[in-house]
Amino acid sequence: MRISALLSVAVLACATLTAATQTPAAPQAPQAAAQTPPMGWNSWNYFADKVDDKGVRAAADQMVSTGMKDAGYIYVNIDDTWQGERDASGVLHTNSRFPDMKALADYVHSKGLKIGIYSSPGPKTCAGYEGSLGHEEQDAKLYAEWGIDYLKYDLCSFIPEVMEKQAPNDKAAQMRLMTAAYTKMDKALKATGRPIVYSLCQYGWDSPWEWAPALGGNLWRTTGDIDPTWDRMYAIVSQQEGLEAYAGPGHWNDPDMLEVGNGKLTLAENRTHFSLWALLAAPLLAGNDLTAMKPEVKAILTNRDVIAIDQDRLGKQGSRIYSDGEVEVWTRHLAGGALAVAVVNVGSDRYSTHPFHLNLAKLGLHGAQAGKDLWSGKAVTLTDGQPIELPSHDVLLVRIDAAK
Ligand code: GLA
Repeated sequence: MRISALLSVAVLACATLTAATQTPAAPQAPQAAAQTPPMGWNSWNYFADKVDDKGVRAAADQMVSTGMKDAGYIYVNIDDTWQGERDASGVLHTNSRFPDMKALADYVHSKGLKIGIYSSPGPKTCAGYEGSLGHEEQDAKLYAEWGIDYLKYDLCSFIPEVMEKQAPNDKAAQMRLMTAAYTKMDKALKATGRPIVYSLCQYGWDSPWEWAPALGGNLWRTTGDIDPTWDRMYAIVSQQEGLEAYAGPGHWNDPDMLEVGNGKLTLAENRTHFSLWALLAAPLLAGNDLTAMKPEVKAILTNRDVIAIDQDRLGKQGSRIYSDGEVEVWTRHLAGGALAVAVVNVGSDRYSTHPFHLNLAKLGLHGAQAGKDLWSGKAVTLTDGQPIELPSHDVLLVRIDAAK
């Protein structure tokens, strides 16, 4: 995982934190932003601390020329390591890799895209750059002046420097400090008058799905960091169970940014990763190098049928309905009575001589279901007991428009 030593220390220190505060589920106020899960690109998963102005402009250019923008990807998000130092008045400046953030934001906007940025409620970010502690309003104003449309706010050093220092050995008080810090930045963002999508990144501690929407969060990370491996991606997926009820228009569970096209993920694994993020109503923030994207990776990221599942206006997160050995069956209920069904071979050694047999009744379906295979683009009919053969880590994703 590409997290700084600082965060590693913080994670270790916090491993003992328990869900000490049992915040009751708060009423979820309707929010105009993020009515469907945010879509865009983020610099971290591929570029990490190598991100610069040129790379962000290139990503924006590619989002247009590859057709990603037309497919719905809108946010160009700069993650950690853009920050420089504060001046005598506390105003934060960019570092030399970002000579003019306002000009960069203008450039991104000129492409019909939006721009996101990153900070921490602590004194330092996860990569050790300047955080927002004590400068929340000043920073929010600066973002608004630059024309920022999205903020990822990452807990990082707030853990050792504030939570543990101010409330040693009191987990509940530590969590209250954390939620207060997220509320503070939400208020500061709202005070600017500029609509800014608010993304909470605190690794799922103390069940953010229960309190983040009420304090203005549009999305919240549910786990620690993803990396471009099947095992990590699948481990994160397995941790999404039970969170379905918390997702909806304006407020989304965030299983982390996409690794499609990164590392050694096979095409089957990339397809499955993307399919599951769509089933989970997850934010779709591509994290690959768009300037060197292979056509087959582009085809995955721009598959409009799969994106339509993710962006379905009902906003109901899907669930793993059952598993049979190493094959899992997921569904997601869609607007207009439609249903997405994903059959995933999560095993590494299941071979085609043992086809899996679909059980429609377990999915609440009766009789043959006419649908579309969203990866082949072909019409398909799902029948009860149907044998399905899938290579390891591959997926069959079907949309049934008139599920019965
Ligand atoms: C944490 C976050 C990552 C990324 C890095 C940047 O690890 O979870 O998504 O933002 O910090 O330092």
